[in-house]
Amino acid sequence: MTALSEPVAFPQDRTCPYHPPAGYDALRADRPISRVSLYDGRPVWLVTGHEEARRLLADPRLSTDRTRPGFPMPSARFAAVRNRTIALLGIDDPEHRAQRRTVIPHFTVKRATALRPGIQRIVDDLLDAMIAQGPPAELVSAFALPVPSMVICTLLGVPYADHEFFEEQSRRLLRGPDASDTQEARELLEQYLGELIDRKRKEPGDGLLDELVHQQLREGTLDRDELISLAVILLIAGHETTANMISLGTFTLLQHPERLAELRADPALLPAAVEELLRMLSIADGLLRLATEDIEVAGTTVRAGDGVAFSTSVINRDEEVYSAPDSLDFHRPVRHHVAFGFGIHQCLGQNLARAELEIALSSLLGRLPTLRLAAEPDTIPFKAGDTIQGMLELPVTW
Ligand code: HEM
Repeated sequence: MTALSEPVAFPQDRTCPYHPPAGYDALRADRPISRVSLYDGRPVWLVTGHEEARRLLADPRLSTDRTRPGFPMPSARFAAVRNRTIALLGIDDPEHRAQRRTVIPHFTVKRATALRPGIQRIVDDLLDAMIAQGPPAELVSAFALPVPSMVICTLLGVPYADHEFFEEQSRRLLRGPDASDTQEARELLEQYLGELIDRKRKEPGDGLLDELVHQQLREGTLDRDELISLAVILLIAGHETTANMISLGTFTLLQHPERLAELRADPALLPAAVEELLRMLSIADGLLRLATEDIEVAGTTVRAGDGVAFSTSVINRDEEVYSAPDSLDFHRPVRHHVAFGFGIHQCLGQNLARAELEIALSSLLGRLPTLRLAAEPDTIPFKAGDTIQGMLELPVTW
């Protein structure tokens, strides 16, 4: 590690939506761990080395409990909801293990495979409607957002008819203008899901939330607040992230015509292409932890009480692991990327996300062989650095 003269601000906005911010160049050179400063000036550690990231993300001395005093937050907006326990993602072991056990059977590879025909139907119907209407089209609202939104609604047993409401609250929670907006959005979502859960107690349906409600009634394993908190994270994580991967993945492919042609010529490359896009785009680019004990890493001591952040975009471009890391290459071995995190909090929905991405991208490219951007690439707006990365809009034509 070489000492940086001034702590770099973290997180920063990307300059190009599929590359780490130019402002992180010094951090890439300073691998594997650097001092950075958060929005409020607080210094925290930023892990940028691949090996160190995987070791630390699996280390129980790093907590994800946002309610602990001193937990590092990326913006004032997220700090405002720090007092609320987030199910799974904000809970340490052993409580985390018990909670994850209640939902893991619904997110296995086998379950994701069983969901594929239903996902394909959703994708086909949305493409039929978009093709009937267009061209041109705005791909985020016509396709990238409704695909995962419909899928997670079906899986959870949330009525898709309410999608405008929960998508709007999720947008305000993740990207609203200020802290009070974020807080209000979270309260509205909790209220909505609380009422839905209460209705399910009386009139059970066949979604995952229905099963959890009945398991709760039978075994008393989860209380009402825990159920609501689980529903909030599953609903938000279930649609926002995959929507961003579909929009940003499509934009990135359209910006790499040779790779796109390669993929069209050999659809068997699709799973590798999805994995490489996950690595390259690293849309969840700022995982956060709090050290509860002193930890030695790469000759540095992370002290108890220090905040620790992980830049997945930089970790996934560690030159010791990935050669020519800034280029899109469907033939590289990418299995060990950290786009889904690592350790006990590694993404619960990764099998589902992979299935959705494979079906959405292959169907979109297959149905629209002349798909292209309908605006200059540098005029298309994308999301700020302190949230999940993705396109705000994606005008396309064919
Ligand atoms: C391509 C899309 C997705 C990406 C890139 C992604 C990324 C991530 C990452 C990086 C984490 C770990 C966060 C941390 O350690 O701080 C995570 C956790 C999580 N993800 Fe995803 N995710 C995606 C899709 C999904 C989907 C579809 C679901 C569906 C329910 C989901 C549910 C969750 C949950 C519940 C957690 C917390 C797990 C735990 O703490 O045990 N994600 N995700």
